[in-house]
Amino acid sequence: MSVPQVFITRRLPASLEQLQAIAHVEIWPERQPPPYDVLLAKAQAVDGLLCLLTDKIDRQLITTSSLKVISQMAVGYDNIDIAAATAQKIPVGNTPGVLTNATADLTWALLMSAARRVVEADKFTRAGLWKTWEPDLLLGPDVAGATLGIIGFGRIGQAVARRAQGFEMKILYTSRQRCQPEVEESLKAEFVSLETLLQESDFITIHTPGAEDTYHLLSDRQFALMKPSAILINTARGTIIDQNALYRALSQKQIAAAAVDVTEIEPLSMDSPLLSLDNLIITPHIGSASRQTRAKMAAIAIANLIAGLTGDRLPHCVNPEVYS
Ligand code: GLV
Repeated sequence: MSVPQVFITRRLPASLEQLQAIAHVEIWPERQPPPYDVLLAKAQAVDGLLCLLTDKIDRQLITTSSLKVISQMAVGYDNIDIAAATAQKIPVGNTPGVLTNATADLTWALLMSAARRVVEADKFTRAGLWKTWEPDLLLGPDVAGATLGIIGFGRIGQAVARRAQGFEMKILYTSRQRCQPEVEESLKAEFVSLETLLQESDFITIHTPGAEDTYHLLSDRQFALMKPSAILINTARGTIIDQNALYRALSQKQIAAAAVDVTEIEPLSMDSPLLSLDNLIITPHIGSASRQTRAKMAAIAIANLIAGLTGDRLPHCVNPEVYS
């Protein structure tokens, strides 16, 4: 049997020794992702693809490929046409679980930074504006005791709620499925409608996947329901918020502030009007960016790839229907 061929779309923070023992591995050497035409050609020449969320793995690429496995180093996979992969019987792997804590931590870093205006305060200091202690300088709301609304209550949403216990917050959540009573009880979380959550929360944080049914889940109508003091956090996917509506809500002070780690189109264009807003913090999609987490994600992605190449079931497969 010939040696399987693998294409990896970026250098990874993990050992490839095990993979190289069974496959011929080519790694895209640039910091920027491979252009689509390169990806298309590689997919037609290899058995296994290890990709990132910046790589567009669409129907054309999948149906013209020789792929036996697609392994994504991320928990989300909205860049991959899963239906097309399933139709071709190609298993798709992802890396759930290991990035839950890192993403919940960044959510809290953004929440605290937006509440206490940390980024604005840093800019203020560097601009030489710190002249004295002032009773009303850079005020924000209390976090302790406030109401936290969590949209999407899977692993990451629940990890965010767990951290909120220390701040004695009231927790509201909404999700496709209501949790077991034990989970609600242990996290002191109350299941409510999206409308109620938007109306009653001081902080709103999104932890639902990017998908057709969550596209622009928050737009003008939803911003109109929020408190003028509300602070919105998004570490999930940019497509969940209508970015033009976000700009309107923030510039008209319909809500107080937002902090987002994801945007509708990534990277965010430097021409985006969002960049002119003082009440918005933007980070470059770094939710899982702890050294330990990225190493674990890479290791899982490699394990998924090896399983796919050797005909084993992927340890983390997003389309298990391929096995039925
Ligand atoms: C990051 O956004 C991921 O889906 O892992």
